[in-house]
Amino acid sequence: MSIDPNRAVPSQTGTGQALYRRARQRIPGGAQLLGKRPEQYLPEGWPAYYRRAQGCTVWDLDGQPYVDFTSNGIGTCLLGYADPAVNAAVADCIARGNMCTLNSPAEVELADRLCAIHPWAEKVRYARTGGEAMAIAVRLARAATRRGTVAFSGYHGWSDWYLAANLGESDALSGHLLPGLDPDGVPRALRGSALPFRYNQIAELEKIVAEHGPALAAIVMEPMRHDAPRDGFLEKVRALADETGAVLIFDEITAGWRSNFGGIHLTLGVAPDVAVFAKALSNGFPMSAIIGREAVMNAAQVSFVSSTYWTEAIGPTSAVATLARMEATNVAQHVGEAGKRVQAGWAAAAARQGLAVKVGGIPALCLLGFDAGDNSRAVMTLFTQEMLARGYLAAGAFYPTLAHQPQVIADYLRAADTVFGFLREQIERGTVLSALRGPVAQTGFARLT
Ligand SMILES: Cc1ncc(COP(=O)(O)O)c(C=O)c1O
Repeated sequence: MSIDPNRAVPSQTGTGQALYRRARQRIPGGAQLLGKRPEQYLPEGWPAYYRRAQGCTVWDLDGQPYVDFTSNGIGTCLLGYADPAVNAAVADCIARGNMCTLNSPAEVELADRLCAIHPWAEKVRYARTGGEAMAIAVRLARAATRRGTVAFSGYHGWSDWYLAANLGESDALSGHLLPGLDPDGVPRALRGSALPFRYNQIAELEKIVAEHGPALAAIVMEPMRHDAPRDGFLEKVRALADETGAVLIFDEITAGWRSNFGGIHLTLGVAPDVAVFAKALSNGFPMSAIIGREAVMNAAQVSFVSSTYWTEAIGPTSAVATLARMEATNVAQHVGEAGKRVQAGWAAAAARQGLAVKVGGIPALCLLGFDAGDNSRAVMTLFTQEMLARGYLAAGAFYPTLAHQPQVIADYLRAADTVFGFLREQIERGTVLSALRGPVAQTGFARLT
């Protein structure tokens, strides 16, 4: 698809921005996910809403196409938007009736498949979102161990068990936790029940185990996000879990399926007691899975874990179709190569244009930052503004998909090169803020790790 590089930058007059102004009157927060608020990208200029998404192209409400070089649906659509094979399986599901008094056989097929891919796991339960699946995993760990305290690292959703960590009365946790994630509404009685440690900082977890070992129900973490484990970190975490009797829960909601077929822990060589999948598992249809060892998972027989729409058929059907397609296309290898190409391209363009950038993350989850001191966020906003004008949704994170083929990436990198040059000029002249047509983007919450 070709995009006119000279077209106008969307502005306050765009249909999407007008609708978002209405949404903010009616919907607290404007959107259902912090990371989908237009203010996080380009306040007053982001297209905000889409009419259609296919492959890696998104059409806004005015029919403008953009190539998506952001998270591609918050990391859900690893096969690209509206994958034809997954959509066909879902369309069939809709035609046959998505909801029924009886159960969907796809639940059993998916459970067998997930346990075959992860041989340490024996049992499976389902939910539909990442955060609720994590809440189930923690509930099962607490029920199975009959303990209450949770040690965790990283982001795991919106639930009370997690936000309880922000109930501290001092600011001892700042830097650790998630500024902006307010625990208002979380009972103060949960204070002290969720204790944070940082990735690769084994001493912090050792301290928690030393102080709370007999009360520790679970250790919850992503096996890997942006940094590789160092000095046997994961093996040491596994040993601490075994020593204290806590359930080791790996959150694979974002990391899973992107670097290899299955949880990233398969590559890292450390098995948890429970792993949680969502997002890429079903390529854009709501689905999440909690897989684990029998002793922990059987707690679901005693603790009440049950919900009507966890039984609809699209979730497991889309996941079965997605797994088949991810395996057949070797999507993880494609995504790894695509990510490396973009990371190398960013670095090369920055060097060519004399712009200070920070390129980070694993190839499947690429990160870009600008090193301009207090102005860094304004420079990122300007990057988004100028890339949007050239037909790209672009910001500081790029999660490649199967649809990001080499030509698409080459075109994007050419545009990024030009914009990097423009950014350097604005920084040198001190005109970054005046080059912006709207306010500087707001930050989201900072991740723990
Ligand atoms: C590692 C991790 N855990 C949990 C979640 C929460 O998942 P959801 O937004 O589907 O509730 C996310 C979402 O970004 C995530 O990245």
